[in-house]
Amino acid sequence: MKQQNIYDNKEFFEEYQSLRKNAFSANELIEIPQLFELIGDVTNLSILDLGCGTGKHDKKLIEMGAKKVVGIDLSNNMINEAIKSTNSDKIEYKVMPMQNIDELDEKFDLVVSSLAIHYIEDYDSLCKKVYNVLLDGGRFIFSYGHPMDSCTILDNYSNNYVLINNKKYFLISDYNNEGKRVSRWFVDGVETYHRNMSHLVNGLIDVGFKLEHMKESYATDEIIKLKPKYAEQQDHSYYVYFKCKK
Ligand SMILES: C[S@@+](CC[C@H](N)C(=O)[O-])C[C@H]1O[C@@H](n2cnc3c(N)ncnc32)[C@H](O)[C@@H]1O
Repeated sequence: MKQQNIYDNKEFFEEYQSLRKNAFSANELIEIPQLFELIGDVTNLSILDLGCGTGKHDKKLIEMGAKKVVGIDLSNNMINEAIKSTNSDKIEYKVMPMQNIDELDEKFDLVVSSLAIHYIEDYDSLCKKVYNVLLDGGRFIFSYGHPMDSCTILDNYSNNYVLINNKKYFLISDYNNEGKRVSRWFVDGVETYHRNMSHLVNGLIDVGFKLEHMKESYATDEIIKLKPKYAEQQDHSYYVYFKCKK
């Protein structure tokens, strides 16, 4: 089935780019630091980034000492921005769906992905392809929209709570009803895929990965001081992170 390519929608892309310029976005304050904590030392590693977007993480990985990074993304808009903003010859960008990584003719020490895999319909097949593109002992480290946050079927996720005695209670429904979710995020009709936690974990284990660490996003007091809204991370995590080894 052909996948939606929402980042090549002009209105969506412009809104998304302005979100990413916000220093207090959940990406900047929560997801990126927590993902990089899990990534750790990358000295001399060859890295493949699935859904690299504008390549922000790839530049950082090279600054951290990686040997080379290949960033792939479905979106022409994203890859054009990535190329414009890069001056390192250690980074290569390609417009390519991550479902096609079995066509790459090289293997990597590390595969990373930041908030891109929940756009993919066939998670199990992707896990197998990632396993195959890794060198022995290589790692797969990624962040993913938390299933607690993605399960409820609503066309606008900002309505995902009820107020009782002035406290927000988040709606959790359809948790075990896996599959496509279509909702409004900047524009109507954005498609992602919800899976429950055991599917996410067993998809990795079943293809042979050893799960080394998993964590769920949280907000420290420092983060909450910068952006009080993120206190709701104590009620439900926005993201989940996995680190596994071949
Ligand atoms: C939320 S953005 C994250 C971008 C980047 N990883 C970051 O954190 O800055 C998700 C990205 O995944 C890309 N994407 C979605 N489906 C993809 C696919 N099948 N193959 C490659 N990239 C994909 C989108 O085009 C978009 O750039």
